Amino acid sequence: MKGLILSGGKGTRLRPITYTSAKQLVPIANKPVLFYAIENLVDAGITDLGIIVGDTKEEVKAAVGDGSHWGAKVTYIEQDQPLGLAHAIKVARGFLGDDRFVMFLGDNFIQESISPLVNRFEVDGLNCQILLTSVPNPEECGVVEIENGRVIRLVEKPKEPKSDLVAIGIYMFDHHVFDAIERIKPSWRGELEITDTIQQLIDAGLKVGHYILKGWWVDTGKMSDILEANRLLLEDMSYSIQGHVDGESKVFGKVVIEKGAEVVNSVIRGPAIIGENTIIMNSFVGPFTSIHFGCTVTNSEIEHSIVLENSQILDIEGRIEDSLIGRNVEITKSPIKPKAFKLMLGDNSKVGIL
Ligand code: DAU
Repeated sequence: MKGLILSGGKGTRLRPITYTSAKQLVPIANKPVLFYAIENLVDAGITDLGIIVGDTKEEVKAAVGDGSHWGAKVTYIEQDQPLGLAHAIKVARGFLGDDRFVMFLGDNFIQESISPLVNRFEVDGLNCQILLTSVPNPEECGVVEIENGRVIRLVEKPKEPKSDLVAIGIYMFDHHVFDAIERIKPSWRGELEITDTIQQLIDAGLKVGHYILKGWWVDTGKMSDILEANRLLLEDMSYSIQGHVDGESKVFGKVVIEKGAEVVNSVIRGPAIIGENTIIMNSFVGPFTSIHFGCTVTNSEIEHSIVLENSQILDIEGRIEDSLIGRNVEITKSPIKPKAFKLMLGDNSKVGIL
């Protein structure tokens, strides 16, 4: 079996973070979301991995390398334009050959291991297997209808969904998928849709199995979803202190303090993670917060947030909450009069001011 991970696309809903970096590299609990996909595939014994890359290819390559870190072999496959999930499979034909494969969307995140499902796909000799879950907003996903225990229809982002069951971004296929893709046309959004492709397989009488997830699933395409994934993952973490916490500080609950990090005269209330060489001084870091490496937080309070690497939060009155703060960001109290907000924000930034 091979693995095909999709790490192309535009990431428009996460701008401005994704103007400068790939959405699949946004860290959740201080690890890029893409790495969780790689780990899940490798745990299932799938180590021959193709990664679809687009505009952000250099950054993805720099982060993942040749895959040896996970004991995997990574082949990069360039997709000039994000013309759909089925288009990505088409582009990967040379890599995939006639092998059976798992396609994993690089911004999707599940709690469960795919290992038993890969096993079932093989043992039952399925031509395709999809993973489903119920969601409150099915109109934003590929909606699936089931009749007599079988998938009968898939519709991409319908205005009036006929069920709340949706296909999440992990799919298993055999070589029949290539013929199915040849038979579909671009959708209203100009993409070769994976849902239309699977519909073709069903209509051709091929064996399409499904599995309803037991654990949680998050598509980390939006900020609120990233914070939610961060919350869920931090809850599953165990306590580990490798950095230094001074005698004046208090650490409660599930907290990870990575090596080289320093906590001085501060309160860290878990679940929370403080990255390598980050300094927290005279501050409060509240539940569900991930602060990445090389950051400084002094005389400030933050909770339910993610701070990316090398950012600084200095002397901020009032608590920062529900925030996604990018790389090399500075949030400081302005020393200059008149008393006013002084902002330098990228396009599409969002700031909430009291
Ligand atoms: O997340 C599950 C949903 O994923 C399914 O329910 C839908 O049926 C499926 O079409 C897909 O919908 P999205 O609109 O959420 O897909 P998105 O455009 O966000 O792309 C998913 C990932 O694949 C993302 O990491 C970017 C990457 N991608 C996307 C396209 C369209 C590529 O690498 N190449 C592409 O051409």
